Amino acid sequence: MVFYYSGTGNSKYAAEKLLAVAGGELVSIADCVKNETFEFTPAVGEIVGFVFPVYCYTVPMTVQDFARKLKINTDREVYSFAVATCGATTGSALRTFNKLFPVSAMFGLPMVDNYIPFLDAVPTESEAEEILSNSDIILDDIIYNLSHRQSGDLNRYEGKGSKFISLIAGKGYANRRPTSDFSSNDKCVGCGLCESICPTSSVKVIDGKAVWTEQNCDLCFGCLHRCPNEAINYKNKTQGKGRYINPRIKL
Ligand SMILES: Cc1cc2nc3c(=O)[nH]c(=O)nc-3n(C[C@H](O)[C@H](O)[C@H](O)COP(=O)(O)O)c2cc1C
Repeated sequence: MVFYYSGTGNSKYAAEKLLAVAGGELVSIADCVKNETFEFTPAVGEIVGFVFPVYCYTVPMTVQDFARKLKINTDREVYSFAVATCGATTGSALRTFNKLFPVSAMFGLPMVDNYIPFLDAVPTESEAEEILSNSDIILDDIIYNLSHRQSGDLNRYEGKGSKFISLIAGKGYANRRPTSDFSSNDKCVGCGLCESICPTSSVKVIDGKAVWTEQNCDLCFGCLHRCPNEAINYKNKTQGKGRYINPRIKL
């Protein structure tokens, strides 16, 4: 079974690929937290995997919450893994996850960076394709390691000085989560997609417009990237920069 969390599809794409080696079902972490489902029993021979994006060198809040509460019911030893997808470097996200829910093996997986406040623009289709083709090579290597039941911290993308940067980055994540930084403009038609996909139920359609009703969110950027009208922005840092959804899966 593979538990996944994904704002723009990268982690879901990787989770679907990894399911072939893990066996069992693909389980949405956001749905589990919403439904308060935290107990699972893997079948004999099944691997338990986790795939999630790195946010500011750490683990998305909903994934942290899930990892703290998760109970895997089994009296056998179960091989397990965590894969953190990222734009470039994971920082200490995997080690943070491992403290909350210890796993047998950990891997970083660079994919397309969806944190557009720090970018000039999202990559073009062909640039994204090139990045994702490289991700596929790394993913094949992860699958090889999993099928040989390799153990330990096998992450090659932690980045230099990550222990120090991660200390600051954790705070950076907390500071960036207030939903007051999100807004919807005149292009919002109140279709409700943002409301239906938000992992923390932080955005609602009220009087035909997207409005953030919770103080904080996970900062997955799913609402912003997946809005069909590009009506959602973050501060003044995302206007005119394009939007990204992993082109290899249907979300
Ligand atoms: C709020 C936020 C913070 C991010 N921080 C990092 C980071 O510290 N390092 C990094 O390499 N990528 C970072 N990223 C990029 C994502 O980890 C990366 O694009 C990931 O594959 C997105 O996965 P998803 O498509 O499953 O949501 C960040 C993205 C967001 C939205």
